[in-house]
Amino acid sequence: MSMNKLLFIANWKSNKTSEQAVDWLQVFKKNLSKVDWENKTVVVCPSFISVPASSLYIKANNLPVFVGAQDLSGYESGAYTGEVSALQIKEFCEYVIIGHSERRKYNRESDQDVQNKAEMAKTRNLKTIVCVQNEVAPVPKESDFIAYEPVFAIGTGNPDSPQNIAKVFSKINDITGKVNLLYGGSVDAKNIDSFMQIPYLSGFLIGTASLDPDAFINLLSKC
Ligand code: PGA
Repeated sequence: MSMNKLLFIANWKSNKTSEQAVDWLQVFKKNLSKVDWENKTVVVCPSFISVPASSLYIKANNLPVFVGAQDLSGYESGAYTGEVSALQIKEFCEYVIIGHSERRKYNRESDQDVQNKAEMAKTRNLKTIVCVQNEVAPVPKESDFIAYEPVFAIGTGNPDSPQNIAKVFSKINDITGKVNLLYGGSVDAKNIDSFMQIPYLSGFLIGTASLDPDAFINLLSKC
């Protein structure tokens, strides 16, 4: 019987140069023995510009970590200036975050954009983590993981309550039939324990508490 591993997504957002990303990985590597790797899958999501350096370092040092992108183009490869296509992402990444609330807010991404991106990701077999802010947001059927991330909880130090997360998860499950549910919003080493018993929980999206490698290792060592 294989145990389902919890997924921990480190979302670095628009932080870290590629040099700083590699520094992070070096510190992480020195502390690997503090973490039980049997029960978890860890994905780091650097900015596009830092993805190749991060991925090459992870491969060269055999780190037990996958790389994810924070976004992808809703278009094929081709004449789309500034876009990064699923094929280009697949060269270095296994996972991709789609529809983060910051992209919906600052880049005006619509539910239709999220749908297009999820479809495009699946053409290259990327594992999709689709973010929703509530239980009524449409969820593409191409979502491998659904991350519930209420806006009030992101980067505020004020996470949603385990009781409310459980309610939202159960509604998302009723509506979509999906069980791979992640929670994101002010998760840190101090509060992560309070979320562990939530039904359908498959993992976490972690922003602020993933930026410092020691803080992130500390968080992982609690699970
Ligand atoms: P936070 O960010 O952990 O800083 O709240 C979470 C996210 O936006 O994915």
